[in-house]
Amino acid sequence: MLAVDQGTSGTKALVLCPERGVLGSAEVAVHPRHLAGGLVEVDPAELLASVVDAGRQALARAGEPVVAVGLANQGETVLVWDPATGAPLTDALVWQDRRAETVCADLGEHADTLRELTGLPLDPYFAAPKMAWLRRHQTREGVVTTSDVWLIHQLTGAFVTDAATAGRTGLLDLDRVVWSPEALDIYGLTAEQMPRVVDADTMAGTTTAFGGEIPLTGLLVDQQAALLAQSVTEPGAAKCTYGTGAFLLAQTGPRPRRGTSGLVSCVAWRLGGNTSYCLDGQVYTAASAVRWLTGMGVIGGPQDLDPVGGSVADTGGVTFVPALAGLAAPWWRGDLRGSVTGLGLDTTPGHLVRALCEGIAAQVAEIADAAAADLGAPLTTLRADGGLTRSALLMQAQADLLQLPVEVSALPDVTALGVGAVARLGLDPGLPVARAVPEWKPAAVYTPRISADEAAERRAGFRSAVDALLTRH
Ligand code: G3P
Repeated sequence: MLAVDQGTSGTKALVLCPERGVLGSAEVAVHPRHLAGGLVEVDPAELLASVVDAGRQALARAGEPVVAVGLANQGETVLVWDPATGAPLTDALVWQDRRAETVCADLGEHADTLRELTGLPLDPYFAAPKMAWLRRHQTREGVVTTSDVWLIHQLTGAFVTDAATAGRTGLLDLDRVVWSPEALDIYGLTAEQMPRVVDADTMAGTTTAFGGEIPLTGLLVDQQAALLAQSVTEPGAAKCTYGTGAFLLAQTGPRPRRGTSGLVSCVAWRLGGNTSYCLDGQVYTAASAVRWLTGMGVIGGPQDLDPVGGSVADTGGVTFVPALAGLAAPWWRGDLRGSVTGLGLDTTPGHLVRALCEGIAAQVAEIADAAAADLGAPLTTLRADGGLTRSALLMQAQADLLQLPVEVSALPDVTALGVGAVARLGLDPGLPVARAVPEWKPAAVYTPRISADEAAERRAGFRSAVDALLTRH
């Protein structure tokens, strides 16, 4: 399989073999533009070029042909494009983009209805508010869709989206897994041509983008692909991917369980006609916040987190709320910005790094508590993947603040493994899901090194900093 993970900061491609594992890999960066006012845009052509380049490079390194392609996507990123020519008519608005706050403010009275219908809170993170914003402010031409639909169309000519990506729009009826006429009406999108909602293990068409003619048989939004790859199926387990943002998901089985603690309830995947659901919560800026610290000159890059953070014993009283693109679950205050408090003349880069790691870990711990409350049982373990899992400092902070073991994936980027498994199922529908997914083998397990009392104290400090933001605005 060629498994391609089209993410916010780059596209990763793996050539996977069920018996021999990863035969070749490649990564191509993409460059979203961060503009004043919380705008985050990316050139769609760069997304497509990165998919093709990463795929071709991985295939060249593997030196072997593949029988199918799987494509994971970044979920809530949207653009307008011309279905006749495939040409983009706007830049892509990245999921972190906050400009659709105006749309959400206008539709505030419908928030409860939308949440009940679609499982999603009314927040500019999701696709529908951004789709409505593009229609109100940029153009009424063409089609307005999530980025996966455009990429799939470019690769195969099909006009489809998988059920889990559709579930990230705010337009999908959560119970029936079809577009909701009521939600479309509330967002003013009734007249839109909507893509067909398909299973993840679908035969979308064939592509010649990687050389030869290869079927595209796997489509899944990235966080859910990571959830599948980490085999998080038993109650009490959850996964968190520490990428551009940090995303915690827990599977809830064949029926949707609407979150009552501030989490999103959505489709995990639809495979072979069977839908699984999950709860999820997110920290909008994890690696993005590390990139911000890097841009500020505090560190030279993510590789400095551990040496710089390790140069001090604690945060020195600094608290960092990493809401650099708004505060997501469980608070849903996208209008807020981040904060760094407790600075002194003795504050060093090490303190800032530690405070950021603890801030990310503390927000993930809040989300984990909300998931446990909704599941009605405490979490017993957290499975972790994503580039930032290379930071032992962050992973230890996570185990400490959660007071749970954190199992770190041997391969940081499991999203591609997940969509590779889906592509395999698309090719061989009789294969049991458990056999398509590679066996979960953590490379490291971090266990708590601080007492429950100390964890509670640190988390209370983080919560007070969040409360200060909430009450000030
Ligand atoms: O919801 C957005 C998220 O799925 C993006 O993931 O890997 O691009 O940070 P990533």
